[in-house]
Amino acid sequence: MRAHDICKAAVPVLTVRPTMALRVAQFNILGRRMAGTMWFHYARDFLPKYFANSCRGLRRASCYHSFTRLAAKCVADYRSRRLAMKLNLPLDVARLHEETPLVPSEHLSEHLGAEVFLKMDCWQRPGSFKIRGIGRTVGLAVAAGAQHVVTSSGGNAGLAAAYAAKRLGVPATVVLPSTTPAAVHERLRRYGAEVVVHGDVWDEADVRAQQLVEELKGSYVHPFDQPSTWEGHASLVEELARQLPRPPDAIVTCVGGGGLLMGILQGLSAAGWLDTTRVVFGETQGASSMSQSLAAGELVTLPSIDSVAKSLGAKRVSRAAFDRCVELGPARVLPAVTTDAAAVAACLKLAEHHRALVEPACGAALAAVTERSAALAGCRTVVVEVCGGAIVDVPSLNAWARDLGL
Ligand SMILES: Cc1ncc(COP(=O)(O)O)c(C=O)c1O
Repeated sequence: MRAHDICKAAVPVLTVRPTMALRVAQFNILGRRMAGTMWFHYARDFLPKYFANSCRGLRRASCYHSFTRLAAKCVADYRSRRLAMKLNLPLDVARLHEETPLVPSEHLSEHLGAEVFLKMDCWQRPGSFKIRGIGRTVGLAVAAGAQHVVTSSGGNAGLAAAYAAKRLGVPATVVLPSTTPAAVHERLRRYGAEVVVHGDVWDEADVRAQQLVEELKGSYVHPFDQPSTWEGHASLVEELARQLPRPPDAIVTCVGGGGLLMGILQGLSAAGWLDTTRVVFGETQGASSMSQSLAAGELVTLPSIDSVAKSLGAKRVSRAAFDRCVELGPARVLPAVTTDAAAVAACLKLAEHHRALVEPACGAALAAVTERSAALAGCRTVVVEVCGGAIVDVPSLNAWARDLGL
């Protein structure tokens, strides 16, 4: 089934009045003629508004959102099919990430005095949201003929790249800093990746990865600063557009190098939610490269990473992410800087109330809710991106809690 056939199949359900039937017929004729990119933009930008304006007898807002959801689903299917065709692979292999559940949190809702939903990306197969974007980048590299992929990572981007490379049948080399725990090395090897350890922080590992790209004639996969990766991360907002009846007031995430943030901002723009939904980003004090840069009005390079949230440990965020935050302004993208103790306490609360284990990097986002950040003032519906992370187990969470006096 082609993407426009899916849309065609779903549209007649809405033929509630003769004028609507006419519009649907017009769309079917148009839809048949349109293909490729033109159809894609039509479905994403024009169709929902067109039908909302034509539905005088229906409630406009609900009509607008049912079409936004329908269009978002068509676009997601269309993208996957296009990628599958490029790769000459079945659809389930081309879209390497799962659609994750959106779980209402009674505990956090009560605590914040707002409806809080958790987007459970910690349940992606390699353990974090990273597979959304990195999976897309690896897929496109393989489609373009890559024979080997090379990445640098604190752990999660490497796991996503190794998992994607295994699914697509190419070798992967992952360069890690010395701080990445041995359990992650083991998981990477189980995905068939070669593991190289270099330096004490991600930035140093990245220098070695770029040398290896030359030596191995491989394709470089950046852990956060690549447009194809942002496009893949944007899929999480596409899913939210199907899972929620209306845009949330805020999406809470965290920032390492800024790839996830860029993806969310792209997704919001595609869903037409940029004006309604603010983005609150959590960082820990010792890894606050984005909030320090925004405060200084220029990119700041941290002298070191001094936080248990090692996955947030890019000493400098991506220029593209910084520029986009500046462009959108402080009313749309707001920092929520927290302590290591609050991030770890938030991880423990999540384990207790939702039986899910996540890294302190993810705890930095959760802490915006548990600490009732001022950035969330006035919000009635809040989605927290539970980005996950593999650099955690019960003994290390307990050890961090003990060391931080929790
Ligand atoms: C679990 C987790 N959360 C958040 C981040 C931050 O993502 P980004 O570097 O795209 O800002 C990372 C990065 O590695 C991560 O592993």
